[in-house]
Amino acid sequence: MKEIKIKGASIPAIGLGTFQLEDSIAFKITQAAIAAGYRHVDTAQMYKNEEGVGRGIKAADVPREEIFLTTKVWRDNLAKKDFLPSVEQSLKNLNTDYVDLLLIHWPNANVPVAAYMEELMKAQEKGYAKYIGVSNHPTALLDEVLATGADIITNQVEYHPLINQQKLYTYLQQHNITLTAYSPIAQGKVLGNPVLKSIANKYGKNEIQVTLRWMMQQDNVLAIPRTSKPERLASNIDVFDFELTQEEVNQIDQLNKDNLRVVNPAFAPNWD
Ligand SMILES: NC(=O)c1ccc[n+]([C@@H]2O[C@H](COP(=O)([O-])OP(=O)(O)OC[C@H]3O[C@@H](n4cnc5c(N)ncnc54)[C@H](OP(=O)(O)O)[C@@H]3O)[C@@H](O)[C@H]2O)c1
Repeated sequence: MKEIKIKGASIPAIGLGTFQLEDSIAFKITQAAIAAGYRHVDTAQMYKNEEGVGRGIKAADVPREEIFLTTKVWRDNLAKKDFLPSVEQSLKNLNTDYVDLLLIHWPNANVPVAAYMEELMKAQEKGYAKYIGVSNHPTALLDEVLATGADIITNQVEYHPLINQQKLYTYLQQHNITLTAYSPIAQGKVLGNPVLKSIANKYGKNEIQVTLRWMMQQDNVLAIPRTSKPERLASNIDVFDFELTQEEVNQIDQLNKDNLRVVNPAFAPNWD
């Protein structure tokens, strides 16, 4: 597995996504993923499956410190009075003393960026999180995040071949912040894409593997594909035995013309 090194952290470049997996499935799939070689798991307060993920990690035959575990503070918990108690509850749910990465899940127009970043830094100082970062923060909000002096290691955002994230990607590269690709296979919409399919056929791979390989050939990009099916776990990380040519990379780069965004709730910020 490729590792991304950033500010002292070493993060497996592909992790397990767990959105919409309820506790019992999250338990089963986390345990199976670790058995299949995953060492990076992404959850969130909002997914209501931290307990299942925590049980899956405990049940797996791998020491806790070998797993890179991320959770995210929900937007309703960003106010000072709610923030740290919510993180303490997450740690209880996950049955662990710390997470490797703690993210702000979404900005919230009712809470100033500087206020929630202060609480995030406090959580890190208390040892609740080794590293901190944000999610769903466009460049205008990242300017505010960086103005607080917070040393963030990632911005977790929607990223796949069908969305245009060029401006954000360039900004993150310039500021030495990784991009964690959520919905990296566009919630299944990369399947059946003719360009991805024809490249996949050449290598005996599928469209998902070509998509993830395209990400792995970029600097400072992590991806957290989700599956609820244990039999798909191994295939989703089997992307390190082939290499896309520059011409194939260019073809995939062209697929973002329609700028397809699959995650866009009413409370989303103004995107780049
Ligand atoms: N920060 C945020 O706001 C945010 C937002 C969205 C997502 N995320 C994170 O990113 C993770 C991934 O994003 P996502 O869950 O939105 O979608 P995704 O990973 O792009 O796609 C998941 C879908 O792809 C299917 N799939 C996975 N592997 C497959 C395979 N080998 N063959 C065929 N179908 C396959 C899954 O179906 P099966 O279950 O049937 O395999 C599921 O329907 C989330 O789970 C979550 O951890 C974060």
